[in-house]
Amino acid sequence: MRIYEARDYADMSRKAANIISAQVIMKPNCVLGLATGSTPLGVYCQLIEWYQKGDLDFSEVHSVNLDEYCGLSPDNPQSYRYYMNEHFFRHINIHPEYTFLPDGGNPDPVKECRRYDKLISDLGGVDLQLLGLGLNGHIGFNEPGSAFEKETYQVSLTESTIRANSRFFDREEDVPRFAYTMGIKSIMQAKKILLIANGEAKAQILKDIITGPITPQVPASVLQLHNDVTIVADQAALALLAHS
Ligand code: F6R
Repeated sequence: MRIYEARDYADMSRKAANIISAQVIMKPNCVLGLATGSTPLGVYCQLIEWYQKGDLDFSEVHSVNLDEYCGLSPDNPQSYRYYMNEHFFRHINIHPEYTFLPDGGNPDPVKECRRYDKLISDLGGVDLQLLGLGLNGHIGFNEPGSAFEKETYQVSLTESTIRANSRFFDREEDVPRFAYTMGIKSIMQAKKILLIANGEAKAQILKDIITGPITPQVPASVLQLHNDVTIVADQAALALLAHS
């Protein structure tokens, strides 16, 4: 595991965007695994800026996202498809038909999950997977207790994640109760992993995933077993590690 300390959120975003840029420059037809949530917004902004300056070309890149809520249509502003289009895809020259997320509108979980796994494998796997970190150690929607050997599956969200995500919805009741997510096995199959975290709220969990036991109770702890993980986090998120 390589750990880079950033001064603040802007610095974290720039350092992480640098790693993604390097991937796109070294392999223009790479497959990027992408995440939603608050943490990557700055990374996407930075990549957009460099694209607009002419320094990056996404025309051959394919992307696969980690997860999507079940039951939200792509034009629902809370869907992850909408988030990706709005915050990243529509600002760069990636082909819309090269961008993939699980289809939250597919009511058949078995078919949808197998379709998504096959899609990732037909693309040749993920070259670089970007991850945020949940307060309870989740990655994607793999909540504590998730089996490490799962590929894409339908998950029932925990109360803590519903509460955390309710900030994006008018009412907590509006947060979908189910999602499709790449499983831990899918994430671990990525050739490289880039995890980003910022803010003091993430300090304890970041310490736990790096130095604590590898256990399904702390899903991101599994990353200790991957041979190419980079963590970029700001000083606040790394505060408990620096002093341990
Ligand atoms: C998003 C995702 C989630 C988030 C995590 C952290 O696609 O898979 O695991 O990365 O919930 O969210 P933020 O960045 O909002 O703290």
